[in-house]
Amino acid sequence: MAKIIDGKTISAQIKEECKARVAELKTQGITVCLAVIQVGTDPASTVYVGNKKKACEYIGIKSLSYELPEETTQAKLLDLIEELNGRSDVNGILVQLPLPAGIDEDAVIRAIDPRKDVDGFHPQNVGALCIGQPGFVSCTPAGIIQLLKRSGIAIEGKECVVVGRSNIVGKPMALLLLRENGTVTVTHSRTKDLKAVTKRADILVVAIGKPKFITAEYVKKGAVVIDVGIHRNEQNKLCGDVDFETVEPLCSAITPVPGGVGPMTIAMLMHNCVESVSIG
Ligand code: GUN
Repeated sequence: MAKIIDGKTISAQIKEECKARVAELKTQGITVCLAVIQVGTDPASTVYVGNKKKACEYIGIKSLSYELPEETTQAKLLDLIEELNGRSDVNGILVQLPLPAGIDEDAVIRAIDPRKDVDGFHPQNVGALCIGQPGFVSCTPAGIIQLLKRSGIAIEGKECVVVGRSNIVGKPMALLLLRENGTVTVTHSRTKDLKAVTKRADILVVAIGKPKFITAEYVKKGAVVIDVGIHRNEQNKLCGDVDFETVEPLCSAITPVPGGVGPMTIAMLMHNCVESVSIG
C-alpha cells in the first residue's frame, strides 16, 4: 500500500506558518498586500481567483481585486501594472492566466516588477532559479518540493523524471529537483519510448494535462508519483494525469487528486506574498 501524500494537511501547515508570520509583521506595522487582476470572466479563472482572495483573507494578507472586462486592451492592462509597480503599499501582483486572445501574455508577465512577481513567472525570476540565485519560484513546483520534503522523501541522488515541459510547471520543476541534487530527466510529447524513461524514475512528476495517461506500465515498483493534473471524468468526478487505481498499488507514495498537489499552489502563493515584503 502506498503512502498517500496529503496535500491538504501540508498546505494547511504552510498556511498556518504564513498566518503567524503575517501577524508578526503586523506588530511591526507592516501589512502584506497582494493585487489580483483578472481579465474577462473565464469560469475556472474566477474560481481560482476567488480561492486566492479567500486564502489571503484567512492569512491576514490584504488583497486588492481588479476585475477587468474581456475587451480590456493590452495597453490598459499594462498601465494598471505600471501603477501597481509604483505603489509602495502593494507587495505582490498576480495576473490570472490565461488572458483573452489579443493580449500578449509574455509582455504582461515582463511588465510586472520582478520584486512583486509572486507567481515567479518573470524571466528574471526564472533566470535566477536557473543559476541558483534567490527569487520567486513558480508556486506549483515549489509546492511539490514541499510535499516531498515534508513527507520525508529524499530527493538527493534520486532518478527524477518530469513528464511535461511547460514554463509554469515542467521546466521550473526540473530546475528545483536539480537544485535538490536529484538526477533529472525532462520528457515531453516528442520523447521516444516514454515508458522506458518513466520506468527509471524514483520520483515521477506528471504534468501533461491528459486524464489518467500514466498507467502501471509507466511506473517502477516503489516509485514516488506526483500528479499535477486535474480533470473531470465522464461521471463529473475529479481525476489526475495518473490512473490512480492501477498505479497506487505499485508505488511507495503518491499524491491523490483532489487533495494532493492542488492545494499546495495557493499555499506557496501565500508563502511568496509573505516573502515579497522582504524583497520589495
Ligand atoms: N493560471 C493557472 N495557474 C495559474 C497560476 O499559478 N498563476 C496565474 N497567474 N495564473 C494561472
